[in-house]
Amino acid sequence: MTQGVTVWLTGLSGAGKSTIATLLEQELRRRGLRVEVLDGDIVRQNLSKGLGFSREDRDTNIRRIAFVSKLLTRNGVVVIVAAISPYRNTRDEARQSIGRFLEVHVKCSLEELVRRDVKGLYARALRGEISNFTGVSDPYEEPEHPDVVVETHRQTPAESVATILAALERAGYVHSATLSGTNGTPRQSDPV
Ligand code: ADX
Repeated sequence: MTQGVTVWLTGLSGAGKSTIATLLEQELRRRGLRVEVLDGDIVRQNLSKGLGFSREDRDTNIRRIAFVSKLLTRNGVVVIVAAISPYRNTRDEARQSIGRFLEVHVKCSLEELVRRDVKGLYARALRGEISNFTGVSDPYEEPEHPDVVVETHRQTPAESVATILAALERAGYVHSATLSGTNGTPRQSDPV
């Protein structure tokens, strides 16, 4: 059985993790791979329902996501995690336990995040209405040695996805698009 991998997208709220996760999911499915996305916003509605944003709760959330990712990864699934995951130690713990792991720092300047502010949370946090908002009033520990960095204030989502795919291929976690079409068999258009 083909082995899976976990692509762990870490970065501030609104940086583009979910957008990149969705596009990457589509591309990997198009290549015939089995893919699951674990998105912080969605996980918090079920698996982590009731958890808040203290360090302890965030760590619990991340450890749950890592646990599920590990099970899926060892069963051949490409798992895409999209969660702020602000603490380096907890991300490193996830890497250790999952093994086949690609850490992607989804980077965006705070200026751009405040300008986008899709959910209106930055405005509220900057007014002091959210006491532990990551990047404003709560820490975000940047990865020291991420496998990939994408910068969404200068790259389109498609460019970020291409960068991640190239890293997955270089690391041997997925085959390049020219080698496998759907079902892992060559497509008509593929060179033989
Ligand atoms: S994590 O820190 O535990 O990894 P997670 O990715 O699951 O966070 O959830 C982040 C989402 O929760 C944000 O995109 C935002 O919509 C929402 N949110 C609500 N309160 C906060 C807060 N204090 N800090 C960060 N995100 C928050």
